[in-house]
This record gives sequence, structure tokens and C-alpha cells, in this order.
Amino acid sequence: MRKPVILITGAGGEIGHGLIERLWEESRPAIITIDLNPLDASLHDRVSRELTGSILDTNLLERILSEYEVDMVFHLAALLSTRGEFTPVTAHQVNVEGTLNVLDFAQKQGESHGRAVVFLYPSSIAAYGLPDLETRGRAGKVREHEWNVPTTMYGCNKLYCEHLGRYFNHHYKQLAAEKLSGKVDFRAIRFPGLISAETVPSGGTSDYAPEMIHAAARGEPYACFVRPDTRIPFMAMPDAVDALLALARAERTRLRYNVYNIGAFNPSAEEIRQMVLEGFPEADIRFEPDLKRQAIVDSWPEDVDDSAARTDWGLSPRYGFREAFHDYLFPHIAARYGH
Ligand code: SER
Repeated sequence: MRKPVILITGAGGEIGHGLIERLWEESRPAIITIDLNPLDASLHDRVSRELTGSILDTNLLERILSEYEVDMVFHLAALLSTRGEFTPVTAHQVNVEGTLNVLDFAQKQGESHGRAVVFLYPSSIAAYGLPDLETRGRAGKVREHEWNVPTTMYGCNKLYCEHLGRYFNHHYKQLAAEKLSGKVDFRAIRFPGLISAETVPSGGTSDYAPEMIHAAARGEPYACFVRPDTRIPFMAMPDAVDALLALARAERTRLRYNVYNIGAFNPSAEEIRQMVLEGFPEADIRFEPDLKRQAIVDSWPEDVDDSAARTDWGLSPRYGFREAFHDYLFPHIAARYGH
């Protein structure tokens, strides 16, 4: 008898950290993880089994298949948008081929134990691509089906994998004699930029917000790589984890779509600087835009319409802009850096 578990890929990353902590606090379910690197010591006793390796290693996935019954997958492993532009082929391998491997794994799991495997996929505002600032200003809050013309390898990968997930969910091997689709219950969230008090991201292009506050907390100067007026949606990490779990637990019949926007607040980079100064009045933050990274952020929407998520599965972030900083980030970051 194989053991029923939750699988988390890329478990050592930003979202993985928050997710594993939350699952542990809530119900201590059996979790197996895959990450290229060993997990932080703080997460060791939170998981039943930790596999150090790559989602490109199909032998690793086969091993899990033979030993465990997986009912839910959080497929978090990815190369983010800035890093992906330096190594686009590797980004494609990890983000697309890796996702295909994990979807295929989930399909086999579902076929083998007979239940649908709930597959949570973090997509991104990077799936959007707006051609210029004027259009972007006019577009305002974008809906899921609008402006799906990403400019980054990462964004292209995310958008395509949303389609792959929908394919596995609804159309997998549609010409076979028996119905094989529906074994993967694919659910994706297009995340905005995320800000965590516990971890600093690496390789993303929305990283200026978390970098700004973590640098301030460490007492280090920070040169922000986008213009002060740059505005994209953001969310505090606890709300991102809540959203993933709310979507994971939603009744399938209530979900009209496979992919949902979510957002919480959308300050400009200057408004973020001002807010950081409320918590760290000595912070030394200046603007030194990197025109190329700026262009990536400028192709992302300034806000998203997340009404479908609110209606279908009850998205309701706890933290607005001020609360995210004053009630979550400042107290937790101060503790983290020993203030
Ligand atoms: N935060 C991600 C990045 O900047 C976007 O999903 O790449």
C-alpha cells in the first residue's frame, strides 16, 4: 500500500517556505519535496521526505510514483524572469519540460489510484505583455484573457504551461478509446509580485520591492532598478499562501476557469520607498533604473482584475498596502534581523 502525500516541487523557494510552514501549523500533512538544494534546517522536520534533485530527472519522479499516492501537487519549481533572460534555453527546460514531467507524473498518479490529482501551478503577471506605457495606462486592470503576449522567456513558459495544464485537465489523449482526461485537476494562479518577510527572492524582476525592504532592515543602502513611478501589483506572502490553499480546497464545480488573476495592492516604487521609510526612517534608497529590466516590468500590467477569483473561490487578501508593511513585514523582518 503506497502512502498518500502532498508533493511540493521547488520546495526550498520563497512560496515553498511559506506553504510548508502553513501546512505544518494547520494539519501536519505528509509532504514530500523536491528541490535542487537541501531544504533549510527550519523545514527539515516539517516534511516526511526530502528529495534533492531536479524535476528534469524522470527517474526521481518514477521513484515517487512507485512509493507514494499523491493527491495534490504544488509545482513551484521554476527559473524566474530575470534569470531566464540570461539562460533562456535552460529556463525553457526547467519551466516547460519540467512542468510537462510533473504533469505527466500527476496523470500517472491519477490513473493509478483512480482519483483526480489537484495540481496547483503558480503562474504570473509575467504571462502578460503590454506593448507600451500608453496602452498599459489605458488597459488598467487586465482580465485573464487580455494581453497574453509576454516578452520574457519566463512569461512565455508560464503562459504555455497554463495551456498544457488545461490540456491535461480537459483534453488529454482525446482520441483514445477510454476517457483519460480529468485525472489532473489543474488550477493556476497568476501571482503578482510577492513580498515575504522570511526570504529574499532571487532572479525575479519584481524583486525591487522585497529587496528594498530587506536592505533597509539590514541597514544597507539600496539602488532600485526601476523608475519611481513604476507600478505593478504586489501581495504579501501569507496572502499568497492563503490563496494557493483556498484554490486547492475549492469545490471543482465552482471553478469556471483553470487560471485566475489575483492581486492585493499596486503601489508605485516611490510609494513603496515611502512606506519602507515609515518602518526604517534611516533607509538609504535611491533610484538607478536599469533600462532593460525596466522594460520587462513596463510590459506587465499596472493592475489585474481578480474578480473571478473572488467570486469562484473566495479570494480575499488580508493585507492591503499599509497592513502588509505595518502588520506583517515590519514586525517579522525586525525579528528576523534581530532588531
Ligand atoms: N516575481 C516573478 C518575477 O519577477 C514574476 O512572477 O520573475
